[in-house]
Amino acid sequence: MTGLCGAIQGHVQQFAHGTGIRVRLDIPATIQRLDQDTELALFRVAQESLTNIQRHSGSKSASLRIWREAGQVCLEVKNSGRGVRRKSSRNAEVDSGIGIAGMQERLGQLGGRLQVSSTSRGTAVRVTVPIHAPEHPSRSG
Ligand SMILES: Nc1ncnc2c1ncn2[C@@H]1O[C@H](COP(=O)(O)OP(=O)(O)O)[C@@H](O)[C@H]1O
Ligand SMILES: [Mg+2]
Repeated sequence: MTGLCGAIQGHVQQFAHGTGIRVRLDIPATIQRLDQDTELALFRVAQESLTNIQRHSGSKSASLRIWREAGQVCLEVKNSGRGVRRKSSRNAEVDSGIGIAGMQERLGQLGGRLQVSSTSRGTAVRVTVPIHAPEHPSRSG
């Protein structure tokens, strides 16, 4: 996964430089390249989640992890700091701006999902996307 991994590393470096927010990265080398749509979607989630941490969390550190399990690739971006604030007592749902809703829609198109969990102590964004195994030429005969 040199493509996605390298892109995230580069972005995180720039982000840290521009914002003073340190991001701990955990992306094992054993993760291989994924299809382009999946890599792009995961990159956008990483980017938007870090932007959200800068804009909304007040936190000076974050962590970003990618791993594979059971035919899926998973990504988690976490920060401590304040959680998602409810904007209105009338609205029980977490207020979902373009960023989170847009990411959810994009992941839905890939058969994946994105969940945000938040408490007064921090926020986590978790994504799972099914991995479509590349088709091998059949070796019958
Ligand atoms: N890491 C975070 N910490 C605290 N609040 C967050 C975090 N990420 C998102 N939020 C909250 O969730 C809302 C929706 O996020 P998003 O859909 O990206 O919209 P936007 O960033 O444009 O406001 C934000 O307005 C903010 O209130
Ligand atoms: Mg946002």
